[in-house]
Amino acid sequence: MNTKTIGIVVGSLRKESFNKKVAHFLTTVAPQNLTFQTIEIGDLPLYNQDFDEEGSPESYIRLRKEIKALDAILFVTPEYNRSVPGVLKNALDAASRPYGQNAWQGKPAAVVSVSIGNISGFGANHHLRQSLAYLDMPTMPQPEMYLGDIANNLDEQGNFKDPKTIEFLTSFMDAFANWINKF
Ligand SMILES: Cc1cc2nc3c(=O)[nH]c(=O)nc-3n(C[C@H](O)[C@H](O)[C@H](O)COP(=O)(O)O)c2cc1C
Repeated sequence: MNTKTIGIVVGSLRKESFNKKVAHFLTTVAPQNLTFQTIEIGDLPLYNQDFDEEGSPESYIRLRKEIKALDAILFVTPEYNRSVPGVLKNALDAASRPYGQNAWQGKPAAVVSVSIGNISGFGANHHLRQSLAYLDMPTMPQPEMYLGDIANNLDEQGNFKDPKTIEFLTSFMDAFANWINKF
């Protein structure tokens, strides 16, 4: 079996985060050949370009090393003020430097946005795609995944209630596995 290791980057640090629950659910409907590793981003100090000359925090070094070892990245993110949460943008910046040592480069990616509202994180989803294009990450264009009204779509265990949504999430992970195989 052609096993691939996927890093999961969640754009919320909240204990009871819906995005964390969705990220976990996605691992349960993924093809067998995909294994998953959660990438911690909550311990990264705010990026400062001085780090690139004076030395980076340990957490940055750990993050870059983890990303370089992965086959692909799955981003699952909320939308904050119609954009990407700062904690996620900070992680993108931290692993993109020092200049010329972008750890994200070439890693296939997929984006899932999750919201309690009806616009389903569209703004965050597409702002994130803009950064991923610059970071040279081939990001799955279709199917897109916008999950709205999330508080009503998950049960108490964090599972989706609607079989049609589960079917779509399963086909999304199948498509992601196929996307990764192209690179
Ligand atoms: C600072 C802040 C800004 C937010 N802005 C948006 C927004 O622009 N669009 C949206 O759909 N939800 C917005 N929300 C609501 C989030 O969808 C909601 O808090 C969601 O539960 C966050 O994801 P999580 O449960 O994974 O932490 C915002 C929440 C916060 C705390």
